[in-house]
Amino acid sequence: MKIQSIRGVKDILPDEIWKWQYIESIAHKIFPRYGFKEIRLPVFEDTRLFCRSIGETTDIVEKEMYTFADRGGDSITLRPEGTAGVVRAYVEHKMYNPPSVLKMFYMGPMFRYERPQAGRLRQFNQIGVEAMGSPSPVVDVEVMTMLMEFFKELGLTDIKLQINSLGSKECRPEYRELLKTEIEKHLDHLCANCKNRYQRNPLRVLDCKSEHCSEIAEGLPKLIDHLDPASAEHFSEVRSLLDAAGSPYSVNPNLVRGLDYYNRTAFEVTSQNLGAQNAICGGGRYDTLVEELDGPSTPCFGFALGLERLVSLVPFDEKKILPKNPDIFLVCLGDEAKPIGFQIAHELRAKGFGVERDYEMGSMKSQLRKANKTQCRFTLILGENEIRSGKYVLKNMATGEQTECLAQELATEIARLSAIPG
Ligand code: HAM
Repeated sequence: MKIQSIRGVKDILPDEIWKWQYIESIAHKIFPRYGFKEIRLPVFEDTRLFCRSIGETTDIVEKEMYTFADRGGDSITLRPEGTAGVVRAYVEHKMYNPPSVLKMFYMGPMFRYERPQAGRLRQFNQIGVEAMGSPSPVVDVEVMTMLMEFFKELGLTDIKLQINSLGSKECRPEYRELLKTEIEKHLDHLCANCKNRYQRNPLRVLDCKSEHCSEIAEGLPKLIDHLDPASAEHFSEVRSLLDAAGSPYSVNPNLVRGLDYYNRTAFEVTSQNLGAQNAICGGGRYDTLVEELDGPSTPCFGFALGLERLVSLVPFDEKKILPKNPDIFLVCLGDEAKPIGFQIAHELRAKGFGVERDYEMGSMKSQLRKANKTQCRFTLILGENEIRSGKYVLKNMATGEQTECLAQELATEIARLSAIPG
């Protein structure tokens, strides 16, 4: 039986990896301007980390985690997201006293046992950032502005920034009770999922995608109308700073996010070109998570974006960013050419040129055909005559022009010819 990849996971093949690398390179370019440094974390952690941080009643913890007992009997979970791991590392390494806000970003695979469909995978990749150590709304806006700058650099248009405030631990319990009472008036029309969860997590009814629930949600009381004064003030500052920065956004009072650690600002960036799974990015403020994981009080703000969704949206300019084809293809003919070809390839690569060759050493015609396929800039023919005379011919594959040179001049000649446009 042929073994295939698991449902909901995807290979990223060599022909498309350049798109990923390009996006990652833009992150590496833009994020450090705002003070972010990369952190690399394990893909699996103690299961309790995710239960405690993401929340026991969330879809992720209730039904989407890849959890297993390892051979020592410990409960391990493949990370469903990156924030919990960053906070765990922050506390474990006591990264408590940076000169300013501690800013980190990460990239890598996340795992959720969701129903696979377009834009929804079981192993997907995120780029995420976390800014740790300040409650200021300036941080919220700076991080969201950095994200929009990143999207702009990638050429994304047609994206929408939606924000909301989820208030605080002080105002939410009262609101939750009010929400439950209001939801109960519509119980018969709720979808099965919401009927099941509204007691434990009534806020999720607000962003349920089912037609009836979203109609009901329109009429339910909004959390932004029940904020405690400090959260209301925070939200109003976020809005005026976004206005001042000229970043377009809309307030979506039904935006609640699917992870429990958020308070105050929550946001999502969506694209109408993505279909049903239209969120490219989500994030917000989480001021109490570090304390809940036994660290000192550390207000934080962060986001994560889905790379698969982003790759499908970016208008890549292949001419500008496609990886380079080989500079030289060596056509080696006859036994004598074997060691000499090996040596020349080695020397040219050491000088920084990309060299390809035909390891089977077929006929001249078949080697030239292969050279053509690689779209190399030059071919270099190493046949009996060339080896005997010590003079080699470089053929420019685009113009057909041939240049003769000595073995020791090869590298300078290739460099000179490469500098000529075309
Ligand atoms: P999240 O909204 O769960 O947030 O995920 C962020 C992004 O990951 C989504 O907007 C989406 O683009 C992508 N994503 C999520 N699930 C899938 C999936 N099954 N298949 C493909 N893409 C997916 C978080 O993960 C938070 N940790 C974000 C955060 C960081 N908040 C504060 N800091």
